[in-house]
Amino acid sequence: MNIIHRKGWEISERDVTPEHLFLNRRSVLKGSAALGLGAIAPAGSALSATYPAPANAKFTGTPTPEDVASRYNNFYEFGLTKRAFVAAEALKPRPWRIKVDGLIDKPFEIEADDLIGKMTLEERIYRLRCVEAWSMVIPWTGFTLKQLVEFAKPSASAKYIRFETFFDPKVASGQRSFFPWPYVEGLTIEEATNDLSLMVTGVYGKQLPNVFGAPLRLMVPWKYGFKSIKSISRISFTDTRPQTFWEAAGPGEYGFWANVNPQVPHPRWSQASEEVVGTADRKPTQIFNGYGEFVADLYKGLEGEKLYM
Ligand code: MTE
Repeated sequence: MNIIHRKGWEISERDVTPEHLFLNRRSVLKGSAALGLGAIAPAGSALSATYPAPANAKFTGTPTPEDVASRYNNFYEFGLTKRAFVAAEALKPRPWRIKVDGLIDKPFEIEADDLIGKMTLEERIYRLRCVEAWSMVIPWTGFTLKQLVEFAKPSASAKYIRFETFFDPKVASGQRSFFPWPYVEGLTIEEATNDLSLMVTGVYGKQLPNVFGAPLRLMVPWKYGFKSIKSISRISFTDTRPQTFWEAAGPGEYGFWANVNPQVPHPRWSQASEEVVGTADRKPTQIFNGYGEFVADLYKGLEGEKLYM
């Protein structure tokens, strides 16, 4: 991951979709769903009726335009540029098996859509702050990770959840590169059961496109974006802190916690401000990406840890 310089194709602030237009678009989509009109979710989806999900009024904002957010992505399995959407088309997110194992009542494997079908979906607009010092605002659809934890029934000895992305270098050419594949991330059980932790199934009012991490990805908005692992194929409950992909790749630069903090620079750049993708703006970065009221308590007593890298 590197510092991002503004690209010529990024649009100016006046082109950002005003919130009322976005919300209006959502009610149009809802209306057409109620009328039974098709073409809301990709053809062949068993879940086309699920989108858009009811919006959670606690998490609102003005989203980055969809065409900007879906053309500026990090998905290293599909290359090192921001233009992963082209190569990511090779991914086949359905059918998709997810293994849930480790310290739980009964380890199991489940089809992603069957798992999603058991959960209550909602839409939340979250800020996304990448460790590369850029940010966006994205309307995600998903279910709380807490629901999945309750469904899996972990034993008392489970202290962490380890998430793993698929590994298929034939499909994901980036996985033929030197990185320590597959992509792995982890959370403590307390972080995972915090209300903010979302398992994402959709974005912009429809089923998740490949480039955003179909069919299922994590979104933990108070942490740098790299914690929000895409295209998850395995979820393991463990008593040991998992070593994450970026810790393995660059232990001097990336850690387990990765909470957003403007005061703690990355070893190679400042984290004090962020480029607002899709505008000409930079704005000051907020501690915990502005979500401190929900999560700051999780880190009491852990001050000795490297909480911000
Ligand atoms: N998950 C996987 N499997 N592979 C990745 O390369 N990149 C991470 C994260 N999740 C990444 C990943 C990083 S660095 C960021 S900033 C976010 O995804 C970007 O999410 P977005 O492309 O949906 O905006």
